[in-house]
Amino acid sequence: MNNNENDTNYETDETLTTRQGHPVTNNQNIRTVGNRGPATLENYDFIEKISHFDRERIPERVVHARGAGAHGYFEATGMAGDEPVSKYTRAKLFQEKGKQTPVFVRFSSVIHGGHSPETLRDPRGFATKFYTEEGNWDLVGNNLKVFFIRDAMKFPDMVHAFKPDPLTNIQDAERFFDFCANSPESFHMVTFLYSPWGIPANYRQMQGSGVNTYKWVNEKGEAVLVKYHWEPKQGIKNLTQKDAEEIQAKNFNHATQDLYDAIERGDYPEWEFYVQMMSDDDHPELDFDPLDDTKLWPEDQFPFKLIGKMVLNKNPEDYFNEVEQVAFGTGVLVDGLDFSDDKMLQGRTFSYSDTQRYRVGPNYLQLPINAPKKQSQTNQRGGQMSYYVDKAPGQNPHINYEPSDLGGLKEAKQSGKEYTPMIKGNLVRESIDRADNTKQAGHTYREFESWEQAELVSNLVGDLSICAKVIQDKMIALAEEADEDYGRRLREGLSSARKETGTHKGRPLGDKDGDDAPQTAEDK
Ligand code: HEM
Repeated sequence: MNNNENDTNYETDETLTTRQGHPVTNNQNIRTVGNRGPATLENYDFIEKISHFDRERIPERVVHARGAGAHGYFEATGMAGDEPVSKYTRAKLFQEKGKQTPVFVRFSSVIHGGHSPETLRDPRGFATKFYTEEGNWDLVGNNLKVFFIRDAMKFPDMVHAFKPDPLTNIQDAERFFDFCANSPESFHMVTFLYSPWGIPANYRQMQGSGVNTYKWVNEKGEAVLVKYHWEPKQGIKNLTQKDAEEIQAKNFNHATQDLYDAIERGDYPEWEFYVQMMSDDDHPELDFDPLDDTKLWPEDQFPFKLIGKMVLNKNPEDYFNEVEQVAFGTGVLVDGLDFSDDKMLQGRTFSYSDTQRYRVGPNYLQLPINAPKKQSQTNQRGGQMSYYVDKAPGQNPHINYEPSDLGGLKEAKQSGKEYTPMIKGNLVRESIDRADNTKQAGHTYREFESWEQAELVSNLVGDLSICAKVIQDKMIALAEEADEDYGRRLREGLSSARKETGTHKGRPLGDKDGDDAPQTAEDK
């Protein structure tokens, strides 16, 4: 039966239509032989509706699947600290005081799936797309300033160890620590992650960092090494494990909700944007390598220089179109910004657009959330879901190649002197010198307030107590190497925890209570 049989005025603003533009006159019943069925195959409207629904999901991100996003703007100071920024970079978005650039930011957690609780112990992603006048720049960062590994080769293994067990599908603290104990460069990051800094209270009250080392290039083609940092004007707030558990019991979307609600009520979150700088060389005088992302650059030697601020003032209009389909990548740079030789950064730069062609599709850059504000003009054509021809207004539509004298696109002029570093060396597979995996972790431990140290040790003991003794011993040795007090407290904590029973395999990070154990650490 037609529910709207008296309504002939279907071309109103509210009229429901199909994707073919046909008005829908009955959205309640499929077409059947008699009102008890069976259904017919020419049920076109139903088949269109259900088959689109069947395809509503795309593959979630292989990491950072759970996220929230918002629009806003970046405003430059025109300076890098107390010097004109042009001394160091010619990137246009930074040059003038007060110049605004639209941005879209996606915050995320890393390991678990798209609807996992936002209270988990996990780094948080902080990815920013700047829609600059020269095309897009993406800064794909995290809240913590260091990372677990320093070579891209190890990334898939790291993610496998941290993700749920392939057999039980449960995250297992023992698999996590098995990887970390055998990858000692992770110890600095583990020290942050197991402290309250591993559970930011929400997205508004956390820092952001580019983590990897980048370069800035000025008009003369001269480069400096830089690291980027976001500092929240809302202050920084982290949670203890207990606080997090209490929130999680009531609300597992609390960070998304906090961001959304703040923007809706006009309480727009802001971050100041800083760079640290170093001259573009190996810095043999330092006891760490400036290209090693497991290290902090000491602030007293490399001060934070303010370059701007960011305000988030608009929620997405549609979660899927914007937050789910947005695609960030470390290769997305503008003139005046460059890569460094940081091996992680180089590996990352391949991975992002590669996964996005699979996750979103080969034309992911034509989606409004990913496209630059000024339409791109390329000779790329076709591919699944090609949406428009990104040609120049006066371009001869026959000419989709370059070079040409028949009205095709032309190369741009190089602005400023090109940066052409000299690179020389043997091709090798080797880790860097100056690896020192624990010194900065010890320093970080001593910088923590005493409640943060106590939380760190208690959280580590909680999760390590279910691990094989060989793993515990390696982690204790790393803590002892980092700081005597850190090592002693971890050793003592684990020795009393071992006396207690009640551990089992497949226990997520932070699940201190655990169920009855088929195996205890002592048994292994
Ligand atoms: C997301 C790879 C290291 C921050 C992703 C994604 C991949 C990936 C494949 C999913 C992207 C998508 O589906 O759109 C890698 C590789 C790394 C690495 C291969 C090391 C070799 C890092 C590091 C950071 C980081 C060191 C922090 C600075 C992020 C963030 C996202 C992400 C924030 C989420 C972006 C978003 O919100 O869409 N990464 N990653 N990753 N990664 Fe990495």
